[in-house]
Amino acid sequence: MRMTVIGTGYVGVVHAACMADIGHDVLGVDIDEGRVAALSEGKAPIYEPGLNELLARTVRSGRLRFSTSTTDAARFARLHFVCVGTPQVRGGEAADVSHVDAVVDSMAPHVQPGSLIVGKSTVPVGTTARLGARLRAVAPHSEIAWNPEFLREGFAVADTRRPERIVVGVESRRAEAVLREIYQPMLISGVPFFSTDPATAELVKVASNAFLATKISFINAMAEVCDAAGADVVTLAEAVGADPRIGHRFLQPGLGFGGSCFPKDIRAFAARAEELGAGEAISFLHQVDEINTRQRRRTVDLARHLVGGSFAGLRIAGLGAAFKPESDDVRDSPALDVASAIRREGAEVRVHDPEAVDNARHRFPGLQYALDVPKACEGADLVLHLTAWPEYREISPAELGSVVRNRQILDARATLDAASWRSAGWTLSALGRPKITGMYTD
Ligand code: UDX
Repeated sequence: MRMTVIGTGYVGVVHAACMADIGHDVLGVDIDEGRVAALSEGKAPIYEPGLNELLARTVRSGRLRFSTSTTDAARFARLHFVCVGTPQVRGGEAADVSHVDAVVDSMAPHVQPGSLIVGKSTVPVGTTARLGARLRAVAPHSEIAWNPEFLREGFAVADTRRPERIVVGVESRRAEAVLREIYQPMLISGVPFFSTDPATAELVKVASNAFLATKISFINAMAEVCDAAGADVVTLAEAVGADPRIGHRFLQPGLGFGGSCFPKDIRAFAARAEELGAGEAISFLHQVDEINTRQRRRTVDLARHLVGGSFAGLRIAGLGAAFKPESDDVRDSPALDVASAIRREGAEVRVHDPEAVDNARHRFPGLQYALDVPKACEGADLVLHLTAWPEYREISPAELGSVVRNRQILDARATLDAASWRSAGWTLSALGRPKITGMYTD
C-alpha cells in the first residue's frame, strides 16, 4: 500500500522503514532538509539498534524515499501517518500540539478525496475529534484516525516489527479495514488488534505510560522508606515483584525515569484531565512526578554526603549520560541532571557514555567527557553509576580501583554487584540500601 510518514523522529523514521520492509511503498516527509538528505542515503539520524541496516536496505529497495514537501506527500498517497512531536508546552504542563495541527492544516487543502490521515503522536484525548472537524471543513471526503505508538527507545525496530498490541481509534469501518490491511503481517503473527473509538485509543497510550511511570515511582517511594527503616529496596523489589500480579518489570529502583515520553506525558495527561473536569481522578500523577524528581535530588544529596559535605574542588566521575541504556537520547536525562547539579556545586565532573557523549556535549558543554571508563574515573573522589548500560556491570572493580583517588561508588541504578565491588576494597552506596551502604546505624 502507498503511504506517507510525516515527521522522521524516533517514531516516524522507524515506522517508515518498518512499513517499507513489510512491502509498503513509503514516502517519509520532514521539514529538516539535512535530515531528509541523510535519510535519502539510508543514514539514520539517531542511534537505534538495527535501524541503519534496515534503512539502508529499504532505501536501496526503492520502497522508501524522502521529501521535505507536504504537497508531495498529499500527491503521493491517500494514506498519511503523522509522527511529529508533541513536547511539553513552554511555561506549562500541557502538551504542545501545534506541530500536529500544522501538519493536518497544511495537508488538508491538498489531500486526494477519500484520504485517511492517521495520527501516531501522543496527544491529549479529544485531539482526533477536534482535528477531524477541521479536516472535514476543507476536505469533506477525508477522515482521521488515531493509532498510538508504544515503541521503546533502544528497541524501536523490534517493537515496531512485533508490537505487544496494535490500537486503532477509528470513526469508520473503512478506516479500520485500511489499518488492518497495513498491519496484516503483524496480525497474522498473532499481535492483538484493538479497534475502538478515537478517544479510547488516545487514552490507551497515556494511561499505559502513566501506569508504568507510577510503578517506577512506587518502588522509588519504597526506597525512601527503606532508607528510613534500614531495609533493602533491591531485595524488596525482587520479593514484591515475584507476585505475578505485580511482576518484576518496571520495578527497578534508582534514579527514576526521564526521556522524551514519561515526564511530559504524565504532566500532559494530568493537565488534560483537569481541563475535562477529571483532574482529581489522576491527581496522584503529580506525586508520581514529584517522587521521580526527588530521586535526582536525593542522589545529589547522597553523593555530597559521601564526599564529606561539599563538592568544591573535587573530581567526580559520571558513568552514563543517556536517559536509559541502549539509547543516545539525553532528553530530560536523570544522569545529566545529577552530573550538572554536582558541577554547579563546584566539582569537576567527567562523564562517560557508550553512545550519548555527542548529544550530551551539545546540551551540557560545561561537563567534561571521556571516551572510556578509566579516563572518566581518573583521579575521581567519587564514581557515580547513573545509566544502567550493561557494560558497566562488566567493569573490573579491581582495575578501576587503580585509577581513582577514592574507591567510592554510588550505584544510582542499583544494578552493580555490590559484593564484588566491596571485595575489591570499594565502598558502594545506593538509595534505598542503607545497610549495604553502611549508612544505617541501628
Ligand atoms: C516509554 C514507553 O515504554 C513506551 O511504551 C512509550 O511509547 C514511550 O515511553 P521509553 O521512554 O523509550 O519508552 O523508555 P522506557 O524503556 O519505557 O523507560 C523509561 C524510563 O524509565 C527510563 O528513564 C528508564 O531508565 C526508567 N526506568 C524504567 C526505571 O527507572 N525503572 C524501571 O524499572 C524501568
